Amino acid sequence: MPIFDTHAHYDSGSFQPDRGEVLSALPAGGVGLVVDPGCDVESSRAALSLAERYPHVYAAAGIHPGDCAGCTEADFDAIRELCRQKKVVAVGEIGLDYYWAENPPKDVQETVFRRQIELALDLNLPVIVHDRDAHGDSLRIVLDYPQLRGVFHCFSGSPEMAEILLKRGWYLGFDGPITYKNAKRAPEVAAITPLDRILVETDAPYLTPVPHRGKRNDSRYLPFVLETLAAWKGVSAEELTAITWENGLRLFGLEAAASALSPSAESGTL
Ligand code: NI
Repeated sequence: MPIFDTHAHYDSGSFQPDRGEVLSALPAGGVGLVVDPGCDVESSRAALSLAERYPHVYAAAGIHPGDCAGCTEADFDAIRELCRQKKVVAVGEIGLDYYWAENPPKDVQETVFRRQIELALDLNLPVIVHDRDAHGDSLRIVLDYPQLRGVFHCFSGSPEMAEILLKRGWYLGFDGPITYKNAKRAPEVAAITPLDRILVETDAPYLTPVPHRGKRNDSRYLPFVLETLAAWKGVSAEELTAITWENGLRLFGLEAAASALSPSAESGTL
């Protein structure tokens, strides 16, 4: 069963020298699908153009909280238009980031987050949420929208927060940091997360797992995340690969697209 990397930024400048080579090598490297989320209008467009070129790549369009200063109506219109395109499967990444002092003020981040949540609901798309050091506000905001579906990307909140989100149908994303020695909360969160709500993500080019920490990340390093998480969950890495593949298809509405892409993926060749 191939791997579904539900969060990788192949539009990033880090892939400028060899983007085509890396993307072309993914299927043979065991990676069957990728979602590339945008961070602003330009990168959302770039993500879509990659998705249009590579059958195994899908895009999300959105404005990242770190990039939302000076966001205009024209930007929201552009994101809406991108979200209507066939290969755009989510609104993202959107959310709150209180980590960087230079980020836009909290009220601006919240307004832009809510506008994009409303867009997702309007277009019946899931959202990809970025929540860094903003757990209380992120939770408060998403709970205002009972119909909202999506994933908390690289989830770093408490088990209590995870429990609330899981009850509301959310998926949780697990990334390279779960392989770091200081990962304390992640095993506790993983323990209470049902297998059918787990997604695995690289956040490439960032968050490279051990033993490649420090290098540029790409989707072919996801087995290190899958192995760590599988051990915590008491399943094999192969089982978790198959389960997270199905989870990604379900959340992003790609069941039909995936079977057309790779008929063998359906037969469950583990
Ligand atoms: Ni990201």
